[in-house]
Amino acid sequence: MAKIAPSILAADFARLGEDVKDICDRGIDYLHIDVMDGSFVPNISFGAAVMKSLNGITTVPYDVHLMIWDPDRYIENFVTPFTEFITVHYEACDDLARTLSHIKEAGAKTGVSIKPGTVPEVLDDYLKDIDQILVMSVEPGFGGQKFMDSSLPKIAYYKAKREELGLDYVISVDGGVGSANAHLVRDAGVDLIVAGSAVFKAADRTAEIAAIKGCAENA
Ligand code: DX5
Ligand code: ZN
Repeated sequence: MAKIAPSILAADFARLGEDVKDICDRGIDYLHIDVMDGSFVPNISFGAAVMKSLNGITTVPYDVHLMIWDPDRYIENFVTPFTEFITVHYEACDDLARTLSHIKEAGAKTGVSIKPGTVPEVLDDYLKDIDQILVMSVEPGFGGQKFMDSSLPKIAYYKAKREELGLDYVISVDGGVGSANAHLVRDAGVDLIVAGSAVFKAADRTAEIAAIKGCAENA
């Protein structure tokens, strides 16, 4: 069984609090917070103020995914009592080691994401300082895209490395995952599945969440 982090990017922004509250009561593990700057990715989503407006509506921990250049500028803004992970992009950092220390010092767990075109070996020198690796299975920027199965060998790579080095980071996947294909990423060894559209647009959200995690009957 995997854990799940629904992405609020797919929520109804006109009634965000209500929609998030609804999803939080259905057996989820984290809330995935997709922050986009319109430069690192070709889309703008929302910032820390919107995330913080959810504080108290839910106690589900935040899994913050910063799709922004030079994320050091904003790390403190995203640290709250509800924040567990702050994930930055390998491709967006000049000095990843420094950024990881910065996240730790600010009081959050460290995450690093790699885009579909980035090879998994780029993180080899940083693995012991990473709490979560987020493998992108779509080009970051938009929800509702098609899952890229080039993410599967990357998940397997990080699983093998974790075993080889005796580490304990969480392996996550983000983009295009729903109940129809979640078994692929679970079989590859993923621990945490990010899902936006599949969960928020499901007719039966509870059933979709259980099926993605792999704890539904017949899943
Ligand atoms: C893409 C985001 C994802 C996205 C997932 O840039 O990082 O978290 O919202 O949405 P779906 O599940 O719809 O692909
Ligand atoms: Zn994301």
